[in-house]
Amino acid sequence: MSKIETIFSANVPRYTSYPTAPHFHAGVNDSVYRRWLAALPQGEPLSLYFHIPFCDTLCWFCACHTSVVNSYGPVRDYCRLLRQEIALGAGAMKARHRVSHIHFGGGSPTMLSAGDIDRLGCVIRAHFDVLPDAEFGVELDPRGLDSARVNAFRAIGVTRASIGVQDCDPRVQKAINRIQTDDETRQAVRLLRQAGIDSLNLDLVYGLPEQTFQSWEQTLAFAVRLAPDRLSVFGYAHVPQFKKHQALISAAALPGLEARFRMAEFARNYLCSQGYVAIGLDHFARPQDKLARAAGRRALHRNFQGYTTDDAPTLLGFGASAIGSLPQGYVQNISAVPAWRAAIQAGRLPTGRGVEVTDTDRMRREAIERLMCDMRVNLDRVAARYGVTRASFSDAWPALRHLEGEGIVVLEGGEVEIDPQWRPAVRAVCAAFDQYLTARPAHHSSAV
Ligand SMILES: C[S@@+](CC[C@H](N)C(=O)[O-])C[C@H]1O[C@@H](n2cnc3c(N)ncnc32)[C@H](O)[C@@H]1O
Repeated sequence: MSKIETIFSANVPRYTSYPTAPHFHAGVNDSVYRRWLAALPQGEPLSLYFHIPFCDTLCWFCACHTSVVNSYGPVRDYCRLLRQEIALGAGAMKARHRVSHIHFGGGSPTMLSAGDIDRLGCVIRAHFDVLPDAEFGVELDPRGLDSARVNAFRAIGVTRASIGVQDCDPRVQKAINRIQTDDETRQAVRLLRQAGIDSLNLDLVYGLPEQTFQSWEQTLAFAVRLAPDRLSVFGYAHVPQFKKHQALISAAALPGLEARFRMAEFARNYLCSQGYVAIGLDHFARPQDKLARAAGRRALHRNFQGYTTDDAPTLLGFGASAIGSLPQGYVQNISAVPAWRAAIQAGRLPTGRGVEVTDTDRMRREAIERLMCDMRVNLDRVAARYGVTRASFSDAWPALRHLEGEGIVVLEGGEVEIDPQWRPAVRAVCAAFDQYLTARPAHHSSAV
């Protein structure tokens, strides 16, 4: 087994939360969530996330919570309930809150009609005070995007768009059932910029079937020509045990660990040579972009949407399967739309599960977040904030020493630093701090 295979063979979480989602449980229900909402400190701005679990075609690689619909009826019905859910959630809070970040994710928020986008924006503003400089992002499927939707997003305050590109090669697109011409992507970029949504992110994925280094380079070059402010370069997460449709992609057709590592490395070298700065595990940004500047100040954060400048201590999730993070812990809505709908119709918050976080969790979460964001952490400083010493992380030490022996990390006193060449191994380093991991490794994807 090569060194790369040894390091990346274990499946590890993406650490968008800690404890991670497999450790959420039904004990955190709607009454617990109501209590948490009522206790939210007044005055501090919040972040809001809205999940739109619909698409008009099934991409076989997709690991997101979504389903394909052939008519608009279910989407219209969902939007009506989503508006009710916002009112229910806001009603459970003691005060009206300010909002500094909003994100529409999916699925494809581009499934919404201009009218439903507008109604959603109105209900959000009816219940929250959206700050004038709030960052408002939306995930877009560029295929079929029209100016009516783009203008509706702009009118409700959208400032940033994340555009799904994945890979430009027709052979790869066929193998993942995601057929998207370069012209469709260009047209979406043009429409967004014309409407004044000029802060753009492109999503690319490596580790897909039929991908070669040549096709990967062409995809990267195409993306750079569109001059986005940011790019996300995700490693394909193949988890057919949870996403049945991924079984349509044969595991035998996928690039191996060594090739995945080289594709991640190639993307990093290529994008950095084109003037982008590598951020965290899988993001790239122009040096003057807010994300790059936050990374430079070590003020970057990680949440369920990936890397963010959002430092609000509370993120409220709305919509089926949406996850929120509150000072008390994490909450996730019921994932199945019929059960989510039934809860709202009965006047209940549609909470499905969650987990309360302890101080030990918070301390480990901070160490993991700093590693994921900065590629280094000072354990003395993190421990001191919780009134303890570095010795509280002693269980992580054997794994860290092993990683040091492999040349992956440098350990000096309480400082853990990932060797720049081994950046893609950051999740494996974080796993050393994860006290829950051994219980359920099968829930996660390949570490690179
Ligand atoms: C929630 S999707 C929204 C994109 C939008 N629905 C579209 O069709 O373009 C956000 C991104 O997640 C990434 N993604 C989805 N499934 C993935 C997987 N199995 N592995 C890695 N990245 C994935 C893709 O890059 C995708 O653009």
